[in-house]
Amino acid sequence: MKPLDLDRVRARLPDRAIEWVETTSSTMTDAARLAARGFPAGTAVVAEEQLLGQGRHGRAWHSAKHSGLYVSVLLPVATPPGALPVLTLALGLAVADAITRSTSLACDLRWPNDVLIGEKKCAGILAQLVGDIVIAGIGVNVNHPSFPPELEGIAASLRAASGRIHSREDLLVQLLESIDAFMKILTEDGTEQILRLFAQASSYVFGRRVTVEQDGPPLEGVTGGLDPSGFLILRRPDGSRCVIMAGGVRPYATGA
Ligand code: BTN
Repeated sequence: MKPLDLDRVRARLPDRAIEWVETTSSTMTDAARLAARGFPAGTAVVAEEQLLGQGRHGRAWHSAKHSGLYVSVLLPVATPPGALPVLTLALGLAVADAITRSTSLACDLRWPNDVLIGEKKCAGILAQLVGDIVIAGIGVNVNHPSFPPELEGIAASLRAASGRIHSREDLLVQLLESIDAFMKILTEDGTEQILRLFAQASSYVFGRRVTVEQDGPPLEGVTGGLDPSGFLILRRPDGSRCVIMAGGVRPYATGA
């Protein structure tokens, strides 16, 4: 598989600062360095390969060379106060939108922002607040022919889902455009519109029997929508209602 043709990307996004690194520990640290040096919102760092790719909850992100998109984008903190959790939902919508527009593959969203094809994860998002900047780290499994054994059964690549190789250049251009579009919706139409769009796009928001992994024992229940902050409402088997502010959601499985 060949390296990203950055000239092609830059030709289509002439006003965008895009840094490219062949091998890095994580584009999150590269982006934080650029933010500290005063690079503007919108700046993107793309890597061909990450040696210490970071996932949510301290997990690693599998970052095979020349196969995926590993990108971190500097974003201004969402203007409505307290909108950060909703911003992470907006990023999920943007990534799903970009994948569908550039590959025609339909995506699902698992709260807060795992992008799925069927039940398998094809993209993940890590949002970190650094001073007055949000670093949005996005990993997309694009052309991976296979995954390590621990990810088999839970990870999907766009290639495996469609049976063809996809242009990472087209996907990167679309991704940056979709992020801009959803950030505009967030700032101009407000958090309610993002919550509405997320609920429409995700099969996990209403009526899904799930297990939530968080600190402490896993919680089971049926999803009951999003609260105004973008947190997930869970109806417990005992009739109580709890609000999930962080954690990993997965379909309930007997014996889980
Ligand atoms: C998740 O666990 O779902 C989030 C994965 C985020 C991975 C991306 S790849 C680009 C950026 N750099 C990293 O080290 N992590 C994010």
